[in-house]
Formats: sequence, C-alpha cells, structure tokens
Amino acid sequence: MTPQHLTILTGASRGMGLAMAHQLLGTDRHLLCISRQANDELTAEAKRLGAPLTQWSQDLADTTGAAHRLQTFLDSPPASPWASATLINNAGVIPRIGPLDHCPPDDLANALRVGLEAPMQLTAAFLRATTAWVDAGWRGPRKVLNISSGLGRSAMAAQAPYCAAKAGMDHSWRAPCVAGTRRDRHRHAGATARGRPGGLPRPQPLCGTPAPGPAHSA
Ligand SMILES: NC(=O)c1ccc[n+]([C@@H]2O[C@H](COP(=O)([O-])OP(=O)(O)OC[C@H]3O[C@@H](n4cnc5c(N)ncnc54)[C@H](OP(=O)(O)O)[C@@H]3O)[C@@H](O)[C@H]2O)c1
Repeated sequence: MTPQHLTILTGASRGMGLAMAHQLLGTDRHLLCISRQANDELTAEAKRLGAPLTQWSQDLADTTGAAHRLQTFLDSPPASPWASATLINNAGVIPRIGPLDHCPPDDLANALRVGLEAPMQLTAAFLRATTAWVDAGWRGPRKVLNISSGLGRSAMAAQAPYCAAKAGMDHSWRAPCVAGTRRDRHRHAGATARGRPGGLPRPQPLCGTPAPGPAHSA
C-alpha cells in the first residue's frame, strides 16, 4: 500500500480552515479536521474525490481532552506508515471587542484556551507521538504550521485577549529554538503564518540544522 501523508487541521468547518481543507483533499493524503462542527460540504467533496477525510467534533477549549485524543490517534499505527505528518493550528477566536474589563470571563478564557493553549497542547502531543515514531525508525518529514496574526506583533486597542493569544503562539515557537536541539531526532519544522489565505508560507526549519533535501524536512 502506498504511504499517505497525514495532515491535521484545526478549525476546518468554515473560513480559512475550510478553504485550506478543500485544497488539501486528495487521494494521497489523510486529512483529519478538528472543530466543533463537521462540514457536510467538505464530506461530500471528499467522497467525490475519493479522498480520505476524518472530521472530529471536538471543542478545543477542552485542551487536554483534545491533546489526549490526538495523541491516542497518532499512537495507533496506520496500515502503512505515514509518508509525512503535518499539524496546522488554524482555529482561533476573537472574543468581544472592547476594553479587557468588558470581556465576559468565559469569553476571555475561551479565547486563550482555543487560541493559545490548544495549539500548544496539540503541538506537544504531535511532537511526543511523532518523536516515538522517529525512535522506532520512521524518517518522514513532520511539520507544524501555526496560523497567527499581525496582531500577535502589533497590539490593537480593544483586542487584548486575541493579541495575547497570537503573541503567545508566536513566542511558543521561539522557546524550543532557544533550547536548541540536542539530538537529531528532535529536529522538526515549524512556521508561523500571519494574515490571510494566499499568504501562507511553506514551513521552514525553526529548530536544529536543516536536514538534506527539502528545506522543511525533519
Ligand atoms: N480572517 C482574517 O482576516 C484573519 C486575519 C489574520 C489571522 N487570522 C487567523 O486565521 C485563523 C482562521 O481565521 P478565520 O477568519 O478563518 O476564522 P473563522 O471563520 O472564525 O473560523 C474559525 C474556525 O475555528 C473553529 N473553532 C472556533 N472555536 C473552536 C472551538 N472551541 N473548538 C474547535 N474549533 C473551534 C471554528 O469551528 P467550529 O465553530 O465548528 O468549532 C472554525 O472552523 C484564525 O486563527 C485567525 O485568528 C484570520
């Protein structure tokens, strides 16, 4: 059996995530989408193309539950090893716009959980699971793409929770790079994208020395 690429995409039920999901559908890729609602139109398109698609109904505000579910999935070996593994942290939430003290506590917590805590938990689960694959001899590329925003760099009045979540997301990638990569098996690729569809970069290595071959190989 030909190995398939695995792509995990959060927030694919609408907006930019849905647009990316449509582009990612293909017979050589298993697309796992994670959001609270499944998208029927995407299911129909996958069926039409014969493209493997799984849509999880999962609230990402339950960050440890989501990470545990992803880890369990990644720990279950597929029929043949994945050709590559990619995690795209796209889901995000803009809570009520206004002064911080006007933001309802639940909305504030939800924005930080979905926008910052969930991507970090999912990334940790992804790296834990794929590092175990590498230890077992797997040599495919693994990549993480975080969908950020210009507001992660330039704060905007009345959007403190969103700005904080995106700034935290950006910074969360810098820390592993500062720590360095003591062992080759910890090399992984990551990228942070700011902005809108069409402007997405190819993941570039943020940590360790690039492996020979494509710039984003782990
Ligand atoms: N649109 C822009 O102009 C722009 C600009 C810069 C950056 N961005 C970033 O790009 C990304 C996508 O933006 P967008 O405008 O396409 O967003 P959107 O249309 O609001 O879609 C958000 C996606 O996130 C999912 N989501 C929200 N809360 C969730 C939760 N609790 N659990 C699971 N999934 C949840 C939603 O699915 P469910 O509702 O089904 O759960 C939906 O699929 C975000 O990270 C955003 O910050 C967007």
